[in-house]
Order: sequence, then structure tokens, then C-alpha cells
Amino acid sequence: MSDYKIRAYQDSDYKVVRELFSAGMSEYVPSICIHVLKQPWVLFVLTCMFICLLASSKSLILPVLAVTLVLALGRQLLGYFWEMYLDHCLKEDLQDISKTYMHSNGSCFWVAEADESVIGTVAAKPSDEKEDELILKRMSVRKDFRGLGIAKALSREVIRFARKGGYRSVTLNTLMVQHEAKRMYESVGFKKYIEFILPTVYGKLINFTISKYRFDLLNAE
Ligand SMILES: CC(C)(COP(=O)(O)OP(=O)(O)OC[C@H]1O[C@@H](n2cnc3c(N)ncnc32)[C@H](O)[C@@H]1OP(=O)(O)O)[C@@H](O)C(=O)NCCC(=O)NCCS
Repeated sequence: MSDYKIRAYQDSDYKVVRELFSAGMSEYVPSICIHVLKQPWVLFVLTCMFICLLASSKSLILPVLAVTLVLALGRQLLGYFWEMYLDHCLKEDLQDISKTYMHSNGSCFWVAEADESVIGTVAAKPSDEKEDELILKRMSVRKDFRGLGIAKALSREVIRFARKGGYRSVTLNTLMVQHEAKRMYESVGFKKYIEFILPTVYGKLINFTISKYRFDLLNAE
């Protein structure tokens, strides 16, 4: 196992931090596609389309081709929307990481480093809604360094920072497809306290569910 250390973000980490974030989040496109495919209305539409084309053409080729084309287009469309979301994040807090996290009160950005390379990231910033709440964001670990406890160590760094800053809790959001992340946070002591569907037309359409987790510093030993 490689040794790693956790340290504060430096400007020279900028490019690799943004790449790690994009790579980590891009991994979810296939599982989001499967999630969308499992929605009853999607299955219904695809089945109806298949049956109608089969009945009208009396051949399997046309319905199979049409369903394949719709699936491929859907995959492209989802990928495009996901890219837009990633782009939004990269232009938001990850545009100027130093300013957002290192020069703002109550915020910080850490990286995990191994073999002189950045292999993990995490950020923390105070909640806009609750004064005594710290938000954990931008957790990502490079694929070839997963399963070594690096994300747990990064989470604990945020918890230590929150304790030192006098916060009562650390909270974070996960998506319905982030099963490994959910398990990792639960093993550190985070508890799910709310789950909701993104309140937008697209969110409702594809059942885009967000689970919020909280680490309660007051009740932690
Ligand atoms: C989620 C992520 C950060 C985990 O990083 P990691 O360094 O591999 O996590 P750890 O080694 O600290 O894992 C700790 C726990 O997570 C869970 N876990 C991690 N990977 C898992 C997997 N593939 N399957 C099941 N559980 C998993 C386990 O409970 C594990 O505890 P254990 O080793 O005691 O069983 C990493 O998979 C990642 O970067 N994913 C892409 C980006 C992302 O999803 N970020 C989270 C945004 S909320």
C-alpha cells in the first residue's frame, strides 16, 4: 500500500484537482443512464414503441434499430446534461479554489498526496443557511488509490476542522447512484437525515434523488 499524506491545497494543485473532480463525477454517467432506464414511464414508452413498430412493420429489425437509436440518443443527452453540470461546478467554487476555500473564513480545501501526486480531494465551507453547520464538498479519490481508506481520512480531516471551528455538524449531499460514497460516509459516522427528489421538471421526471447526510459533532465521542 502506498503511503499518503493529507495537506492543505496549494495553487500548483489547481489543474489536477479539477481533473480529479471531473473524472470522479464522470464515472456516474453509466449508472445514471441505468437509473433513468429503470423509471417505469421510460420502460413503458420504450415497450410501447417497440410493440407499435413491430406491429406496423411486421419485422424485428425496425423496432430493434429504433429502440437502439433512442437509447443511444438518450445516453448522449444525459452525457451532455452531466457535462453542463460539471462545467457549472468548475466555474463555481472550483474556478478560483484559493479564493473560495483558502482565503475565506471557515473554509478549507485539502488534498491527499501519494508519490508526489495529488490522488484525493475534499473541501469544506460554512453553510449559508445554518451558522453552526459546515458543508463537506468535492470528495474524490483517484481510481487506483481507492479502497485504502483515503476518503475516510479526508472526511475525518473535515470533521477535525469542524470541531476546531466550533461547528455543531458537518453535512453533505449524495446522489442516488453514489453507493460507495454513501457507505464510506456511513462508516465514518455520518447519518442520512433527509432524502428528496430534485424539485425541477427534469428531477421529477427521472426521480433524481438527493440524500443529505450529517455528522453530529455534539453527540460524537
Ligand atoms: C466515494 C469515494 C470517494 C471513496 O473513496 P475511497 O478512498 O475508495 O474510500 P475508502 O477507502 O476510504 O472507503 C471507505 C469505505 O467506503 C466504502 N466503499 C468504498 N468503496 C466501495 C466499493 N467499491 N463498494 C462498496 N463499498 C465501498 C466501504 O464502506 C469502505 O469501508 P471499508 O473499507 O471499511 O469496508 C471514491 O469511490 C470516489 O472518488 N468516487 C467518485 C467521486 C464520488 O463519488 N465522490 C463522492 C461525492 S459525494
